Amino acid sequence: MFNAIRGFKDILPEEAPLWRRLEEAARAAARRYDFEELRAPAVERTEVFARGIGEATDIVEKEMYTFTDKGGERLTLRPEATAGMMRAVLEHGLAAGGRTARLFCVGPMFRHERPQKGRLRQFHQLDAEIYGDPGPGADAELLAYLAAFLRELDLGGLSVNLNSLGCPDCRPAFRARLVEFLNARSAALCPDCQRRLELNPLRVMDCKSEACREQVQAAPRTLENLCRDCAEHFETLQTLLSALGLDYKIEPLLVRGLDYYTRTAFEVLSGGLGAQNAVAGGGRYDGLARALGGASLPAVGFAAGLERLILLLKDKSPAAAAGPDCYLALLHPSALVPAFKLAESLRGQGLRVAADWAPGSLKSRLKKADKLGAARVFMLGEDELARGQATVRDLVSHEQGLFDLGPYL
Ligand code: HAM
Repeated sequence: MFNAIRGFKDILPEEAPLWRRLEEAARAAARRYDFEELRAPAVERTEVFARGIGEATDIVEKEMYTFTDKGGERLTLRPEATAGMMRAVLEHGLAAGGRTARLFCVGPMFRHERPQKGRLRQFHQLDAEIYGDPGPGADAELLAYLAAFLRELDLGGLSVNLNSLGCPDCRPAFRARLVEFLNARSAALCPDCQRRLELNPLRVMDCKSEACREQVQAAPRTLENLCRDCAEHFETLQTLLSALGLDYKIEPLLVRGLDYYTRTAFEVLSGGLGAQNAVAGGGRYDGLARALGGASLPAVGFAAGLERLILLLKDKSPAAAAGPDCYLALLHPSALVPAFKLAESLRGQGLRVAADWAPGSLKSRLKKADKLGAARVFMLGEDELARGQATVRDLVSHEQGLFDLGPYL
């Protein structure tokens, strides 16, 4: 017998209603905020992610499911949606010629991380992106969509952390200052960060190790080193978020784990999830289109982790699975044909019908109807059948009556 592979999880029928609720909330909010759906493939050329997310990120260095296919191409199961969606937007010209595009995507992502609560190797994201609008209005509207989606789920205890990471005009000078600061303290940094210092010094700012956290307290901040345009963008974004009544906290050490971000970066955290507490993250990435070989195309987006939202929904309202509308209890072999016809007819009327086709005792069948949580049970016994009838019992009110089986005999 086989088991599912580590980090890959079966979503069982009892969980399916919560998943539907989540996806319906995402789609309902997407419609109101005018996002259209893009269903991008789960596999892309490895280069799309290596160039898009950045060679020196944990995702690209350690976590991608990469393989060579039979044609000799290097392919990767998408670890996130943003780079592949940008590839599709550029390929199909969805935001060409100064147009904007607003797209969302729901689906599985794959990262070879160490599985734990809220962290899987196959997980699902709702991802939403606005292409072609460089202004802070797009950032604010995107965050408004994310907030509306989360509000629809009625989850409490969430907070938004916000930062600006600057742009290619102001970041190199900031990076140089940061490297100078960190080099002077490199002996005190964790081994990972000593390595990152060379390749990806910004990541040191949000390292979780106690030693690094202590060192970066006095480090230079991106927010104090923004160029005028970036500072104005961040100011206006904050004005708009306040105008919308959206709460946020400025977190100067927030840098995110993907290299494509420019200016705005944010994360939504939950108090109820333990170590893996980020339920969503995103930001602006005005350089990604060029990195993928396209014309310049500003963009901003977020992705929410659906498994983590499911954990929160489960805590709030443990799934109460609804049972079928009708259960057919066959109590005698002669019930088979009328029961089949009756089931088809009830289903044709839009009712959800369950049955066991092998005849059984009344006691066992009533027990089964109860276990299924059926609303009504049709009892097809030998005597009733001889009279062309079935007994119907409402399992909620316990009222009982006769049902004419005439058309089904
Ligand atoms: P991310 O922060 O890597 O961003 O992932 C977004 C969310 O996906 C996380 O906040 C978390 O809820 C969920 N997530 C990530 N990894 C796992 C995992 N191994 N297991 C379960 N859930 C996970 C991105 O992916 C960017 N593409 C977001 C974005 C969109 N930026 C711009 N547009």
